[in-house]
Amino acid sequence: MNIKKQIALRLRTIRLERFIASLIYSWQRDRIERQYGKPKPSEPMQTPGQLQGLKKTDRGAWMQFERAAVQVEFLKSDFVRVTWEPGWLPVPYAIAKETWPEVKVTVEENRDKILISSSQLTAIVSGEGSIEFLDESGRSLRQELPPQRQGEQWTHGAKLRSRERIYGLGERAAPFNLRLQQGKKYRMWHYDAGGLYGPGMDPLYLCIPVYVGLHENGSYLIFYENSFDANFSFNDVATAEFQGGAIRYYFTAGNPRQLLGNYSELTGGPPLPPRWVFGYHQSRWGYETEKAVRDTANGFEKYDLPLSAIHLDIDCKDNFRSFTIDPDRFPKLREFNREMEAKGVRIIAIVNPGVKRDRNNKLYREGVAQEVFSTLPNGEIIHAPVWPVMSAFPDFTHPLARHWWSRQYEYLLDLGVCGFWHDMNDPGVFTLWGDATLPTPTRHFMEGRGGDHREAHNLYGLLQARAGYEALRDYRPEQRPFIVSRSGWAGLQRYAWTWTGDIETSWAGLRQTVSTVLGLSLSGIPYTGPDIGGFKGNPNAELYLRWFQLSTFLPFCRTHSANNAKPRTPWTYGEPTSSCVRDLLRLRYGLIPYFYTLGWEAQETGIPPIRPLFWEEPDNSQLWDVEDAFFLGDALLVYPIVFAKARSRLAIVPRGYWYRLSDDSRLQGSRRLRLDVPLAEIAVFVKAGSILPMEAGKTLILHLYPPVEDRGEGRVYSDAGDGYGPWRLDGFEMTRTAEGLELNWHSQGTYPFVYQMVELHLHGMKLQQVWVDDREVRFGSPAPETSPVKIAPGMVVCCDRFQQVRFLGRMD
Ligand code: GLC
Repeated sequence: MNIKKQIALRLRTIRLERFIASLIYSWQRDRIERQYGKPKPSEPMQTPGQLQGLKKTDRGAWMQFERAAVQVEFLKSDFVRVTWEPGWLPVPYAIAKETWPEVKVTVEENRDKILISSSQLTAIVSGEGSIEFLDESGRSLRQELPPQRQGEQWTHGAKLRSRERIYGLGERAAPFNLRLQQGKKYRMWHYDAGGLYGPGMDPLYLCIPVYVGLHENGSYLIFYENSFDANFSFNDVATAEFQGGAIRYYFTAGNPRQLLGNYSELTGGPPLPPRWVFGYHQSRWGYETEKAVRDTANGFEKYDLPLSAIHLDIDCKDNFRSFTIDPDRFPKLREFNREMEAKGVRIIAIVNPGVKRDRNNKLYREGVAQEVFSTLPNGEIIHAPVWPVMSAFPDFTHPLARHWWSRQYEYLLDLGVCGFWHDMNDPGVFTLWGDATLPTPTRHFMEGRGGDHREAHNLYGLLQARAGYEALRDYRPEQRPFIVSRSGWAGLQRYAWTWTGDIETSWAGLRQTVSTVLGLSLSGIPYTGPDIGGFKGNPNAELYLRWFQLSTFLPFCRTHSANNAKPRTPWTYGEPTSSCVRDLLRLRYGLIPYFYTLGWEAQETGIPPIRPLFWEEPDNSQLWDVEDAFFLGDALLVYPIVFAKARSRLAIVPRGYWYRLSDDSRLQGSRRLRLDVPLAEIAVFVKAGSILPMEAGKTLILHLYPPVEDRGEGRVYSDAGDGYGPWRLDGFEMTRTAEGLELNWHSQGTYPFVYQMVELHLHGMKLQQVWVDDREVRFGSPAPETSPVKIAPGMVVCCDRFQQVRFLGRMD
């Protein structure tokens, strides 16, 4: 039998087996829930009652109420932690920083209120347990109602200000401003959308109980460190209803930079990935053989398209088993990986957490012997169907399980696999009805204190990512890990990137992508992107191209599709689409110094590369609801086309001056306008005062967009592109002078300058004379073909290193 027939036959049997297994499992899960599940609480809903005692602590105060206690502690003067008990305190999986420097806090009793203040914030706790947060000027930022408890469940509410906007909650197929959907309940319970989702589906794979409340009278971020199943809603009152656990939350106030900065200080910054990760990734569920992957890589070469990685989906596995490679279909993976790496293409392999129940499966036998699988309350291992049918699930809340799991990556790393794709780790399982995950009574170790799946479910992908990250750090200490994970929780950014899952192939799906990515950014998840063209279905050339245009400006740029979708590569659409995609890819690769520098900035500060339009102007309500445009870093403002046949679109432009990337036309912001956007283009603007770093081979190209007033700047971070060796930071500063413009260059760090030449492309100015370090030099306008990408050609000055360049000329 030939290999194709074998595969088809295998798939057919597996499908039938999976169907039967899903039927049996759904029934079993219901039985387990009936037998061990927590009954609905019968107790009445109770408030904390009256305040009975106060104890001052180093960082705040501890207050005892009749039926509850609360502790208010300042981590910093603009960052407060509040803990309402009773209830399990969280195991601090999300937290990266547990000790904070001293902070000065005063506690004052004022009639029936307690005022706990730092130099920047005051928390006023009333005798009934309401808490109000005020900023240093006494403005009220948030008024919380006394929480209510019923059995193990807690409900926490806060009045929202009339025009307050709410953003975040992790990955959502919802409007960017979550409050637009009055009456809607957003659930915190990771969910495998089962191959397809569109706008409105809730929840999705990566829920995070963190949100930003934006208002012209002061904004805040709140993060609930509680991983239990929960429902959030945002009407006049913001309500969070948790199924269990203590209510521990962190409150910080300030502008978006400060909010995300503090949140990432607490939950950890995203480490800088290897540089190649910012290139283009090609993926498809359906690369069934080594040959199919090779043909794809060759296609990129043939059509002169850059490519950094190919992702291998479950097709590469032996009977869908974790950490295996099918020896018939991928017989010489090590050699193959070498061949790919020689072309600059890295292979990323999928890793699913379900371990096939099979006595011949070594991994399963080991897991049983080491007692690392999740169990039911009676001690039996819980099995549920996923791709390899009945499987056991490592309990990643157990350090031994993480350790054991982390040892498995070595096999694939030795075969030359460069990164890992964690899928199905919501954890998703196949069911015919009901919740598509493990039963809630499933036991978890929770670092020894014990707990069940109600608490561990949302942590599952996070802790798998932690095990994977630690594996890569240990086994390949000289390289930076790359993992892309479908699920996770607060803190995922420390270990992995994510993607927006199985989004439907439709214009609505494309529109949704922008809001989802923005929401993830404000939830502390900086690195994400969609399946270009959508997961299931076949986009027409226009939809594919518009989706590609958007993704060119997102951190994770990957095409992926379902196994029943037609092959989707830039050349499958013929001309002119493939040439348009080639231009986009060249632009993307040209921009890698910019992306890389943003990655370094995100690592250092927690500031995400993708930012909403109100980022610099949080009190400009015109920008609050913009969910079809975004900033990439400080310099670029991106307006994708997200409607079929549209060749123009409305744009709300933030304050400042902006140069259109394609033709250098300059416009003044703080206005709305209609932009013409032909099919081959995406409207992108560069902020006046920016220096956009790009590269072409060994040449660093600095696109200078002169400030309209005073000064502007740009930076380029560089290092070996991987590993943990020396680095350098080149800072460029532009100043307007009476005669034109002056550019100064300062460097830090010890890594040698990697470029052989520097090209300065000056936009928006007519040049008369140029001096490099006081030496007059020639300049000119490049012929269009020497312009590396689709950027309006500027006046070009080529030089080596310099300290100062002076341009004599005037603004266009
Ligand atoms: C899930 C993933 C998808 C993948 C498929 C097969 O649906 O979300 O990306 O292709 O499983 O592994």
